Amino acid sequence: MPAMSRRSMLEGALGGALGGATATLLAAPAIAQGATLKIGLMLPFSGTFAALGEAIAAAFALYLKELDGKMGGRIVELVRVDDESDPAKAPSNVNRLLGREKAEALVGTVHSGVVMALVQAAREQQIPLIIPNAGNVAATRDLCSPSVFRSSFSNWQPAYGMGKALAAKGVKKAAWVTWEYAAGKESAEGFGDGLRSGGAELTKVLTLPFPETNFQPLLAQLPGLKVDAVGSFFAGGGAIQFVKDYAAAGLRDKLPLCGSGFLTEGVLKAQGAAAEGIQTALHYGDGIENPKNTAFRAAYKTVTNRDADVYAVQGYDAAQMLAIGLAATKGDASAVKDISAAIRAAKIDSPRGAFTVSASHNPVQTIWLREAKNGENRVIGVAAESLADPGTGCKMA
Ligand code: PHB
Repeated sequence: MPAMSRRSMLEGALGGALGGATATLLAAPAIAQGATLKIGLMLPFSGTFAALGEAIAAAFALYLKELDGKMGGRIVELVRVDDESDPAKAPSNVNRLLGREKAEALVGTVHSGVVMALVQAAREQQIPLIIPNAGNVAATRDLCSPSVFRSSFSNWQPAYGMGKALAAKGVKKAAWVTWEYAAGKESAEGFGDGLRSGGAELTKVLTLPFPETNFQPLLAQLPGLKVDAVGSFFAGGGAIQFVKDYAAAGLRDKLPLCGSGFLTEGVLKAQGAAAEGIQTALHYGDGIENPKNTAFRAAYKTVTNRDADVYAVQGYDAAQMLAIGLAATKGDASAVKDISAAIRAAKIDSPRGAFTVSASHNPVQTIWLREAKNGENRVIGVAAESLADPGTGCKMA
């Protein structure tokens, strides 16, 4: 192939992944190293979780740019698919990435129902998969696999931290309000376990179908529940609406609202005064000081013009994890055993603070207690230190 046409082909491939960053990359000498490595990014780019998907994708591309567009010595092309947070469309979206697009590694997704199609394909076909958000516990419990890693959290982890912190404050009875799907159910379990660890109890779980936002019938029931506090799992557009409706219903002063940190993460500006004072628990927050976080936040702001949030951190770390795995195999994405061993042995230099993964491939991480103040989720303490998901039922093949 003549040099010029190879060059313009690469330019096209990189353009999609990196936007304006192609000029620097093309100056790199090693353009002839192996075939382009396609990584499938299956994320929500529309619907209630659209901003979450965009943050993950932008931060993934940011780390790839730091690697001059390569992983394991191979030029990477990112192929994006909008999964719409729709579980019904998940199998065909995965098939599209692995079939027509010939992706050799997968990154996705946000929604706990949708991620199951990715986990199934990664297990059956031994394709490397990094989950940059979805907390579905099965992915790192019963359905754990050498090929599947998470850069994020299990649904149980932040909610467990919140329950534990609430019980430590003296709360005795609490309720959980959430969407009726895996993330809602599993976060309720974590919250209940956390409360029980401190002698308190979860007395009621109220749900509505995902991604509905008609919260009024649920809010009307809360004062009658005789609880001391209300915890919740909502995220993205739904979280904005819930926090506003909770305040508008006049509940803020009667029943303190708390939750998994997603309730106020990346959405504080839109929630405005309604979010002031809400305490949440998460593996990230404002006020975490380390050089990696400072550099990451500045670089992310420069490329996106947005402030980094936990979703961006998870996208960035997904890229770090995949790059560590592929470096160990010189870009051979089919050498799953070696990729797996490299990620298991690694200390990931995350903006949240360095972490390792548990035996079932989920981050072991501190869950911070945060309070929303003046547009920030300020860290005010530790909810649960170095917390690992129990990993129940995981048997690595
Ligand atoms: C999930 O479905 O697992 C999920 C979605 C959004 C979040 C957190 C968890 O912010």
